[in-house]
Amino acid sequence: MEFKAIVDSKARNACGCAVVGVHENGELGGAARLIDAQTGGLIGRLIAGGDFAGKLGDTLLLPHPAGTAAARVLLTGLGPRAGFGRKQYRKALLSSAQAILKTGAGDATVYLAWHDVPGMDSHFRARAVAETFSAATYRIPDLKSGAKPKPSRLAAVNVAADAARSLKAMASGLTIGAAIGHGSAFARDLANLPPNVCTPTYLGRRAEELDKSWARIKTKVLDEEAIKALKMGAFLAVTQGSAQPPRFIVSEYRGGKKGAAPICLIGKGITFDSGGISLKDPPGMDEMKFDMGGAAAVLGTLRAVAELELPINVIGIVPTCENMPGGKAVKPADIVTSMSGQTVEILNTDAEGRLILCDAITYSRRFKPATVIDVATLTGACIIALGNQVSGMMTLDDGLAAEIAAAGGRSDDRVWRLPVGDDYADGLKSNFADFANVGSREGGASTAATFLSKFTKDLDWAHLDVAGTAWLGGSQKGSTGRPVPLLVEFLVHRARRK
Ligand code: BES
Ligand code: MN
Ligand code: ZN
Repeated sequence: MEFKAIVDSKARNACGCAVVGVHENGELGGAARLIDAQTGGLIGRLIAGGDFAGKLGDTLLLPHPAGTAAARVLLTGLGPRAGFGRKQYRKALLSSAQAILKTGAGDATVYLAWHDVPGMDSHFRARAVAETFSAATYRIPDLKSGAKPKPSRLAAVNVAADAARSLKAMASGLTIGAAIGHGSAFARDLANLPPNVCTPTYLGRRAEELDKSWARIKTKVLDEEAIKALKMGAFLAVTQGSAQPPRFIVSEYRGGKKGAAPICLIGKGITFDSGGISLKDPPGMDEMKFDMGGAAAVLGTLRAVAELELPINVIGIVPTCENMPGGKAVKPADIVTSMSGQTVEILNTDAEGRLILCDAITYSRRFKPATVIDVATLTGACIIALGNQVSGMMTLDDGLAAEIAAAGGRSDDRVWRLPVGDDYADGLKSNFADFANVGSREGGASTAATFLSKFTKDLDWAHLDVAGTAWLGGSQKGSTGRPVPLLVEFLVHRARRK
């Protein structure tokens, strides 16, 4: 889908569908008022007649309204004027997109970005249009045997600016929003695929595809032998029970100065987490195909960064394997030597994410990174703490915490900081190795992060636990693509800062 910012202060753009907002008390937004005038008071009559109340998320399609330049007008409810904010704005955009996609319109002009949204300037209002319209057109790569639904005709979306001075900010918002849309879709596809298709080998191939498609991305995929040569004993322990071979993916995006320290993004890539010998309960185990959501988000973010040609260096690092039981599987009480040289007693084979991540963190040191952020569906405890709304963030650096939290706020892909560090280290004590891979059940998200912190000495590091946010369960089951919006915004901001 093509997005374009246009100046159209009269709401006269000839298009397949004009989208205008109406508040719940019948208060017409600027564009709705103009179209009301063009149509001889049609919108006012519809409101007075009780046909449209402006309730948030409601839409009403007016085909061929006389007097307008648009073939259709879509009225979108914005809810009450008081309390209209970024959440309501995004919801109105999403229902608009869904309503247009059901029509035959090939293009649309969205006038909703005219509305004031507290805390959201025109750049972010436009960005949200591109993000939500992209998300609304996303289709799960399903393996259903019936006929596929016809793709919608909507190919172009114009976002109207009411003044020329906001055009540039809106255009850049659309560019970034579209890149986030593409990156999220890339991530969602990977995560939604079944685990017999999306294997570590498959993930490696998709990362190589990024290399072919984007000149600035160079991908290297290490096989088991190369992983052994690197002495990643913790990672190797997780993969040893599986028939699928592991991969260690390194995708380098070089857009910055040659010697500029890169940002390393590390994504947990467990393509199926059965728990291993510490086998999980059957209910919901299918959702453990999403346990590579961190890896998917890292690759999706890299794709977005390449599309945006950001002037920075970013390195995506993805350790990927299955976690399976079997005669060769790692057992509770096994002790392994991580790449860092530190030994780990594996007391619970279901705490596998931290084992593959710790070796990836050690590997990242070779790049002398400015910042390392790992992204992982790491703990059920994080879901208990924060639910499905916000991701957990752990870091020992207050500056980095503020930077990530701010990026989360701007991108509406929020995080909440949880503690990490010495307070939680006692639980990881082992009589037999440097430490154990699990502590007590309580505070599990912070314990997991504290395990990782044993490998991050002298690194500027943050950990994102996306166990609750990377996918949805129930009837909505599927990948969300989070935290691609957060990571892209973080990197866009880093690129501007320099
Ligand atoms: N991938 C899981 C975490 C998870 C569980 C994410 C449920 C989303 C939903 C992770 O590998 C895991 O199994 N963690 C254990 C850790 C425990 C054994 C210390 C957990 O959270 O139960
Ligand atoms: Mn697990
Ligand atoms: Zn896992």
